[in-house]
Amino acid sequence: MKTKYYRVDPVKPDTGVLTETAALLRQGDLVAFPTETVYGLGANGLNEQAVKAIYQAKGRPSDNPLILHIDAVAKLDELAATVPANARALAERFWPGPLTVVVERQPKVPDAVTGGLNTVAVRLPSSVVARELIRLAGVPVAAPSANTSGRPSPTTAQAVLADLDGKIAAVIDAGPCEIGVESTVVDCTTPVPTLLRPGGITYEMLLAVLGEVEVDPTLAGSQAVPKSPGMKYTHYAPLAPLILVEAEPAAAAMLVKREVEQALAAGKRVGAIVSGEVADILPARTIKAVYGVRADAAAIAASLYTMLRSFDDKPVDIIYAEGIAENGLGLAVMNRLRKAAGYHIIRA
Ligand code: TXA
Ligand code: MG
Repeated sequence: MKTKYYRVDPVKPDTGVLTETAALLRQGDLVAFPTETVYGLGANGLNEQAVKAIYQAKGRPSDNPLILHIDAVAKLDELAATVPANARALAERFWPGPLTVVVERQPKVPDAVTGGLNTVAVRLPSSVVARELIRLAGVPVAAPSANTSGRPSPTTAQAVLADLDGKIAAVIDAGPCEIGVESTVVDCTTPVPTLLRPGGITYEMLLAVLGEVEVDPTLAGSQAVPKSPGMKYTHYAPLAPLILVEAEPAAAAMLVKREVEQALAAGKRVGAIVSGEVADILPARTIKAVYGVRADAAAIAASLYTMLRSFDDKPVDIIYAEGIAENGLGLAVMNRLRKAAGYHIIRA
């Protein structure tokens, strides 16, 4: 299939383009579209066949459920069996925005969306293009990140096409995504809401509204897993193997430098995802993706997936990444880096 390409203004998108692509969605085709977090691969969320096509295009395991995207807060009540007070509070505070709530589903939500679970994940994005597209489609839009399963999520239309050109009906290009990492996923069906995936809304912001937040054990647990290999856990991964260095800034700088020098000495072509501070002390032969200052987690989040993808067309045998502090957006950045590294982590 030939993938149609549309370019729109992120703030004042062309209504003709959105009407046309919304019609594609409604008739069961797949359309990739921008959100404030990452590009999504959209399908009519009430059409079982259309939703199944998402899994096919991405090569995604069918037991990993999808998020339904809506264009107004009130639509949550049309998808949820009940809306717990916590979910309501989160929606009122953070929607439209990079937050997904998990609630009990209504029977009309297809099994293909929820992977057979009794719950459904719902999100109201802040991106004008996304919201207008969903509004014109007139249905909730099921959308995972628009990448091949296992690869870094796309934050540009070019990254979408690198993975999915020819496999989807259309892509809407509105330029790079603002936030750069996916939405925060909060399970609101537990007595105390549970953070399932850190993202654009920080843990600190959730706490301020909820007073109490559980953290899913697999998130905390990942820190205790030293070097669990296995592709099973690898997501967001670049093509070359990635090793994450986690330490205080000065120690991390020395560790990254030592590892890079050893790999170069062993004849490897070496990539590094590092702060400006560390980039300056690495050998000139290192192929660097530089994320700016270590303290600016928002800037790092915004460029993270582009940095990971930048090694796709550069000849490297191994990539080292310098970790950052886990406050604010740093929690989401470190979660993605650990997964991208398949939990291959070096600590001081
Ligand atoms: O920012 C985002 O959330 C992007 C954009 C496109 O909106 N979408 C996205 O979708 O990241 P995806 O499919 O890549 O990630 C969805 C996450 C997965 O971790 C999935 O396991 C979780 O949400 N999820 C979906 N439904 C769930 C449910 N019923 N219970 C628990 N987790 C669920
Ligand atoms: Mg994804």
